[in-house]
Amino acid sequence: MWGFIVTCGIFLVLLCQLRLLSKRKSKSTPYNALLPNVTVFAMGGTIAGCANSSLEIVNYIPGSVGIEKLIEAVPAIKAIANINGVQVTNMGSENLTPADVLKLAKLILAEVAKPNVHGIVITHGTDSLEETAMFLDLTISTAKPIVVVGAMRPSTAIGADGPMNLLNAVAVASSNQSMGRGTLVLLNDRIGSAFYTTKTNGNTLDTFKSYEAGSLGIVLNQKPFYFFSPAVPTGKVFFDIYNIKQLPRVDILYGYQGLNPKLAESAVHLGAKGLVLAAMGATSWTDDGNEVISSLIREHNIPVVYSHRTAEGYSSNSCLGIPSYFLNPQKARYMLMLAISSGYSIRDIEGLFSIK
Ligand code: SIN
Repeated sequence: MWGFIVTCGIFLVLLCQLRLLSKRKSKSTPYNALLPNVTVFAMGGTIAGCANSSLEIVNYIPGSVGIEKLIEAVPAIKAIANINGVQVTNMGSENLTPADVLKLAKLILAEVAKPNVHGIVITHGTDSLEETAMFLDLTISTAKPIVVVGAMRPSTAIGADGPMNLLNAVAVASSNQSMGRGTLVLLNDRIGSAFYTTKTNGNTLDTFKSYEAGSLGIVLNQKPFYFFSPAVPTGKVFFDIYNIKQLPRVDILYGYQGLNPKLAESAVHLGAKGLVLAAMGATSWTDDGNEVISSLIREHNIPVVYSHRTAEGYSSNSCLGIPSYFLNPQKARYMLMLAISSGYSIRDIEGLFSIK
């Protein structure tokens, strides 16, 4: 009996070590000097998700497949680029933290500094993909393409979209046409700007959209076609994260009829150094809510950004705090966190968000 238990224990330890080794290992394709070099950082998500059946596209475990398997599943990638795959995390993107995103951004900064690296792809869960993409857009200053890609169907599904999305992402990251366009989001053949693109539907393949700004281009037969020359989104700023070790807590509060005004106070008491409001309409918050916000600004000198709970829209400077203009709450939050980390005053932050 004891012999059996000890054997099982040894087996489990070996299994864990093998898993750890495979987590740390990076995967490379055979080198072809004629092809560009693309580094793929893997974070997890549905693109690396597994279900019990090929028909299951709702109940599955995201972040189950490692980067090696993801690359192996798309042999055509080898004809486009030399791939260096690096597993950073492997989880559902709802569990990623600002610390994970800061770590990823620093890894990418080190990678794009290598002269032989042409571009970067990040495989990521779609639920918080736009947050990571926005953070990278605000912190990675390079002309090299940075492409964030995900999938809506797990890797085990019939018609899984991950392999084609990954192939297209590598094609975009390998193309000179993609230079100088900031961080890009790629799903469903569409290339979007990280600054504007948002997830609009929890289930469908065509979920990533930027209704007002539109997409930047599409991918046809693994070749990106851009509708416009490279351009910088209006209001995009750059933050140097070299000295940032930790990001401050910034909470988002949602607006609704009869909202509890005290939640804003609680957030600050629980450590928020800034707040973002997903306000009703453009910037509407309730009268008692605004009274609480006003005293928080007065007493704690904390920046409060008014954004909107609507999918699109313009929060203007008619509100009490700092308007987010076109940024949705989750994008405004990372901009505010970076501004606070960089030591900006409330007045500076107003200037950062404002669109002239
Ligand atoms: C996730 O965000 O990790 C799960 C959902 C997805 O990737 O589509």
